[in-house]
Amino acid sequence: MTAIASAPTSPLRYSELVVADPPVVLAPMAGITNQAFRRLCRESMAPELDAGQAGGLFVSEMITTRALVERNRKTMDLIRFTEHETPRSIQLYGVDPAVVGTAVRMIVEDDLADHVDLNFGCPVPKVTRKGGGSALPWRIGLFDDIVRAAVREARGAVPVTVKMRVGIDADHVTFREAGLRAQDAGVAHVALHGRTAQEFYGGHADWSRIAELVELLDIPVLGNGDIWEADDALRMVRETGCAGVVVGRGCLGRPWLFADLAAAFAGRSERTRPDLRTVAATMRRHAELLSGWMGEQHGVTDFRKHVAWYLKGFRVGGGLRAAMATSSSLAELEDNLARLDLDQPFPTDVLGLPRGRTSGGRAVSLPEGWLDSRASRAVPAGAETDHGGG
Ligand SMILES: Cc1cc2nc3c(=O)[nH]c(=O)nc-3n(C[C@H](O)[C@H](O)[C@H](O)COP(=O)(O)O)c2cc1C
Repeated sequence: MTAIASAPTSPLRYSELVVADPPVVLAPMAGITNQAFRRLCRESMAPELDAGQAGGLFVSEMITTRALVERNRKTMDLIRFTEHETPRSIQLYGVDPAVVGTAVRMIVEDDLADHVDLNFGCPVPKVTRKGGGSALPWRIGLFDDIVRAAVREARGAVPVTVKMRVGIDADHVTFREAGLRAQDAGVAHVALHGRTAQEFYGGHADWSRIAELVELLDIPVLGNGDIWEADDALRMVRETGCAGVVVGRGCLGRPWLFADLAAAFAGRSERTRPDLRTVAATMRRHAELLSGWMGEQHGVTDFRKHVAWYLKGFRVGGGLRAAMATSSSLAELEDNLARLDLDQPFPTDVLGLPRGRTSGGRAVSLPEGWLDSRASRAVPAGAETDHGGG
């Protein structure tokens, strides 16, 4: 392995409490970045977790602002942090400036989080069809109203950041104007995923868009898209000049990627290559943490989606894989883990390969007449129903 020189980045300081050092953010991922997974990633990056050692930012999955202000029970569970988690970072999804403002006020008054990120990147048809997520910045006045409401209600007590895509499609690019508006509104950073909604998760993220935004804005710009290995993060910083990176799918089944990111940003060349015994121990801990948070039955069921990611590239028979992915108790999972051939070294041939969602190239569903006007500040109806993020 060749040593790659450390990229010239500094810690990101948002407030006394919110510091990303190294400047690395765990991307919000619905159904994934709950308190169990955030803890695994954080511990990899900063093993002295309990001593409150600094690390990156580990963002919750997206939280619908309407459900939050209604104090929906499931939503309140999603934003429960353990006492170890500092800073606490919540991503909000909303389309109504008044509701987003109320949600942020509630976060500040009830001391629910230390950092709020706003989701303008979701490309899921259920969301864009209603004018939410990555469709919203096209209505730039509405975007402006939402971001300003969030920053106003944060009252300087919690930093507010924005996460977005390049635009709806190649003909409806929004990131430049939205970035400028967000900066004027007073956000602490803008994170850009270098794909349009139309590209979904296909092809490659266009990092040149990130470089363009870095040139355009005075506030920190974070780059997102296709960081599969720690050295990809350094390359993104070098190629775009971004102030930090947001890492999503690369850590699916590999929370230890955050240890590699810490090493990479410190200029160290060592990388984590766990054998199957160590991976199995991480799997067990992941399932235990989920069980501790949501109860054993739900926790073990929720863990099933992670099995194939953890085992990617290892020699494991189809029957055992299937048994593992249908385990319904910690004891059953434990039995199945014990049946693995645990002495296998890490399969280096899977390094750098995509994981998770990879499909792309779909027409973007939008509300009738959405593209005809950029000026309308009208709040789209029905865009805050329950949905998965993206
Ligand atoms: C399963 C899954 C769920 C996601 N949920 C969210 C979300 O709740 N909020 C959000 O802003 N982005 C969400 N995303 C997008 C990621 O945060 C990230 O922008 C995207 O995956 C690109 O980064 P990557 O190439 O590092 O994965 C999700 C992505 C995946 C794969």
